[in-house]
Amino acid sequence: MRTPIIAGNWKMNKTIAEARELVNAMRDDLARLAAGGKLDIVLCPPFIAVPEVAGLVRGTPIRVGAQNLFWETKGAFTGEIAAPMLNEVCEHVIIGHSERRQYFGETDEGVNKKIKTALAHHLKPIVCVGENLAQNEAGQTAAFVGGQVRAAFQGIARDDARGSVLAYEPIWAIGTGKAASGAGANAVIGLTIRGALAELYDEATAQAVRVQYGGSVTPKNVAEFFAQPEIDGALVGGASLVAADFIAICKAAVK
Ligand code: PGA
Repeated sequence: MRTPIIAGNWKMNKTIAEARELVNAMRDDLARLAAGGKLDIVLCPPFIAVPEVAGLVRGTPIRVGAQNLFWETKGAFTGEIAAPMLNEVCEHVIIGHSERRQYFGETDEGVNKKIKTALAHHLKPIVCVGENLAQNEAGQTAAFVGGQVRAAFQGIARDDARGSVLAYEPIWAIGTGKAASGAGANAVIGLTIRGALAELYDEATAQAVRVQYGGSVTPKNVAEFFAQPEIDGALVGGASLVAADFIAICKAAVK
């Protein structure tokens, strides 16, 4: 049995003061939902708000993550954030989000290095994969997403892979209000993503790794995703910025 995991990816939203306000509006409800270990909830604010959010949820089962890291651990890399800086304040880190690949030139190779560094410093990666619209329409989803998973986990030990989370986020569904269908996402996760993990490791590992769906998840459509056997939660962007929506999404996961 895989414990569902819901992560709120705030992207480049919320000042420290706004972060405080948002967390205060949802902390008690989220803490109740995450109590008892039936659901993992992770908040991923911008770097600068991570320590603040971590302080606000300390003592609750709510977890905190960053949205990126660099693969080197220190040195002359202006503007970057290293794993040893993050693991003082948070437990998770999103790696390879399509916006990072698209706007900041992240490659499969860089994603692989970042996952290795995160794992070496006891950060739990949430690794994002997903095809764009043209690839989807050309029937290239399985080849492309499978390739992303294989590249991301190249050279990563089985036990480390087991502790990682993947997020299937079709690019055409992110921030568009046009979510994938539950059955469609279920098929990509079950066949393509778990298939690639089974190839890299074995069937038991493929079945143990948690895989989220992400892309225009809302309180209205979330039940359709959580009803799918291969989907273990959600990576939520826009709806994670609204306390009532994020609480409703987390509630749907424990139903
Ligand atoms: P969205 O973003 O929920 O706003 O579509 C999801 C994501 O990019 O993680």
